[in-house]
Amino acid sequence: MPSLTSLLNDRFALALEQSFGEDFKRRDPVIRSSQFADFQANVALPLAKELKSKPRDIANTIVSNLDLAGICETPEISGPGFINLTFTSDFLASTLNQGTAAEAVAETPATTEGATSEGAAAAGQRVVIDYSAPNVAKEMHVGHLRTTVVGDALARTHEFLGNTVVRQNHIGDWGTPFGMLIEHLLDVGIESETAQDISANPNAFYQAARAKFDSDEAFATRARARVVELQGGDKQTLELWERLVGFSKTYFNHIYSLLDVTLTDDDLAGESIYNDDLAAVCQELEDAGLARISDGALCVFPEGFTGREGEPLPLIIRKSDGGYGYATTDLAAVRHRVRNLNADRVLYVVGTPQAMHFEMVFSIARAAGWLPEGVEFEHVKIGNVLGDDGKILRTRSGAPVRLAELLVEAVARAKATLQESNVEFDAEEEALVAKTVGIGAVKYADLSVAHDTSYTFDLDRMLAPIGNTAPYLQYAGARIRSILRKAEGDAFTAAPIHLGEAAERDLGLALLGFSDVVAEVVAGSAPHRMCTYLFDLAQSFTSFYEQCPVLIAETAEVRDSRLRLSQTVLEVLEAGLGVLGIRVPERM
Ligand code: ARG
Repeated sequence: MPSLTSLLNDRFALALEQSFGEDFKRRDPVIRSSQFADFQANVALPLAKELKSKPRDIANTIVSNLDLAGICETPEISGPGFINLTFTSDFLASTLNQGTAAEAVAETPATTEGATSEGAAAAGQRVVIDYSAPNVAKEMHVGHLRTTVVGDALARTHEFLGNTVVRQNHIGDWGTPFGMLIEHLLDVGIESETAQDISANPNAFYQAARAKFDSDEAFATRARARVVELQGGDKQTLELWERLVGFSKTYFNHIYSLLDVTLTDDDLAGESIYNDDLAAVCQELEDAGLARISDGALCVFPEGFTGREGEPLPLIIRKSDGGYGYATTDLAAVRHRVRNLNADRVLYVVGTPQAMHFEMVFSIARAAGWLPEGVEFEHVKIGNVLGDDGKILRTRSGAPVRLAELLVEAVARAKATLQESNVEFDAEEEALVAKTVGIGAVKYADLSVAHDTSYTFDLDRMLAPIGNTAPYLQYAGARIRSILRKAEGDAFTAAPIHLGEAAERDLGLALLGFSDVVAEVVAGSAPHRMCTYLFDLAQSFTSFYEQCPVLIAETAEVRDSRLRLSQTVLEVLEAGLGVLGIRVPERM
């Protein structure tokens, strides 16, 4: 089903061509939502300037060539030359009767991979998404929560649109800290409880290793030697390293399963996989005349990057001791993603503080010819998660907040709110719904603000039953399910939808906006647009439900139409929350 705006765009293309000739066919008609109609087209204003004519005259000419018979009421021209467009209720109803874009995924909730909407498969881009990316032997913090949740929503939305997504979990599994981590692992014993504990409580292990490194010179010397062996590919060292990574994988997977995100071990593409490419990356940059030695280190000074005093800023790609770092790895990753993963578009869902790093990396990669025209690289900047004090969220003692604990608390609080619900749950269902609601609430709070702004972590607000929250939307969905259960056995599913009342028409129009929103989320890497849309939709549903009796409607026809309309709302809610990685409980 084409979206309403693409239908209007097509009709305007014809009208523009007929009015002003072939050259104007592809002119953007600037269709926007409107206070006075369903949509307005604003193209007459820029065209008037260009054609040195009055905007209202231009608008009149366009309207006289605009064929919207059977689609819209007669367009009206308002203000300086806006063309107001209002769909007929019959057209909206018949479009809904053909099915919405959400239908294809109605039966494939949250974790089903590869769910695609009909007709959209033609998009077919290959999109590499770098997200989550926690560090081995370290705790995942709330910053990783956000990169994980936003990245996963983008991955699901691209797949829904028919794109091929290659997930890349660029974990921090390489570099100097691994010398001390491996030596500490040997000291405590690989099979010891302390070692096993990395998979539950990684920070303790890391901090112990760090403390020894800082205070014990002999240990520090062993640690440094170990790094050299690791990077040199020493077999026994690599085995120890793998054990460490293994413990962390267990920990990451535990968090991923709590969070209900789609990442698996197959998506792991940590820093270590680029180890063998790093020398070549440096060599190529030297050969291309882009890198030079400065203070013993091999540096690239990308054009346009200067420090406070206007001095050129370096990106160090090989330290004076011969070691490579984070930046070199990211340069290798750019090459890999273009050459081997055949990306059309690459999204880096990473914290805002790394903005400069990525600008430099992309700029150097472009200069080196690794980043061809036509491949889009984009840093999807992730803002901070703040505590009540407006500072980055920490525990009272100042330590980073443990993500696992936060999630467990969210589920516990959701469970407490369920005890106030009218629904009688058995223990099993209660646990399931509490998880769906608690985790859904945390994810939704993350997704519903623009990804580059910061927000305050506040479980009470996230779990609020009203407002732009997951529980509000999940409750709307569960309520529709309950209505549909009561109508079970009725043959309403084949009944046609009529949009007689204003509230029905508003709801119908809202439903038909879904595919545009999916496209917007993907185009702008902006999941919060989906949240805003779903919140509006749920509110339209609430008004409809208040104004239009469903189960006790005046006639069987009206009742069936309203049941189908409600069912369509449920499908769109499920699909919309589904691309965000959030489920709708059966009951709540
Ligand atoms: N591990 C890094 C961190 O925790 C994030 C890595 C992001 N991805 C990348 N290609 N640099 O900050």
